[in-house]
Amino acid sequence: MKEVTPRHIIEMKGKEPIVMVTAYDYPSALIADRAGMDIIFVGDSLGMVVYGEPNTLNVSMEQMILHTKAVARGVKKALVLADMPFGSYEIDTDEGMENAVKLIQAGADAVKIEGGYDHRKLVRKLVRMGIPVMGHTGLTPQRYLRLGGYRLMGETEEEIEEIIRDVKALEKAGAFAIVLEFTLADVAKLATEEVSIPTIGIGSGPYVDGQVLVWHDLLGIYENVPPFVKKYADIGSMIQLALESYREDVKSLQFPSKEHYWEYLDKNDFEMKKRKALERMKEGEQ
Ligand code: KIV
Repeated sequence: MKEVTPRHIIEMKGKEPIVMVTAYDYPSALIADRAGMDIIFVGDSLGMVVYGEPNTLNVSMEQMILHTKAVARGVKKALVLADMPFGSYEIDTDEGMENAVKLIQAGADAVKIEGGYDHRKLVRKLVRMGIPVMGHTGLTPQRYLRLGGYRLMGETEEEIEEIIRDVKALEKAGAFAIVLEFTLADVAKLATEEVSIPTIGIGSGPYVDGQVLVWHDLLGIYENVPPFVKKYADIGSMIQLALESYREDVKSLQFPSKEHYWEYLDKNDFEMKKRKALERMKEGEQ
């Protein structure tokens, strides 16, 4: 059993902030786990940050399974959470259950679905089956066509009502935590106070029980990041600098240098072996 379990996450509410980060491959998972993340999340944001898609709508179950397997192999302590991609759970509850099982079998400890009230039946069934579920409300990128883009949520009475209805429905259905994405901080605070399970914010301010950021955003792999992101490094520029130095070294014959290759110390020995090898080759050709 992992050090961090859904029960552990629930118990952190009000005691200790929960820290969650996305990861999509084995090396990132190793580093995130070593850095002490509570939850390592294989988000469907991989469609955008790893595959260069304009949104998350084309992410498939196959992609989620492959990336979940890679991440799960790298994590010893944190809870591994996998996203249910668009179209994998909304159409049919049974299909949603089958797909959640596939992610658990790929190594996830829990799954996340976007939405709340509309998916309460699926959440209840998954929880009964033994699959821990995290919900997600506020900005739900899988519905960005309907929402009309990625925008701040909770500005109208209707949106506030929808968010509160979602968090309450998720809690009642047995979800162990809820992502609140890009809502006004006051709305995130209200939602957090309305439920006994933890809320994990992204772009929703400080009055929540934890924070999640996307790997590529916080590490500064891309120049442009959403306005609510704090860049903790400038890895993109560091990688580019390293590649430019490598290019320079190859072009100017600086690499490989003595310490990076091995040659025969006794050249006569090499000449003899070379002659024999070439003779043997010729004999083989006849
Ligand atoms: O897929 C993702 O990375 C997410 C986070 C923004 C929470 O859903």
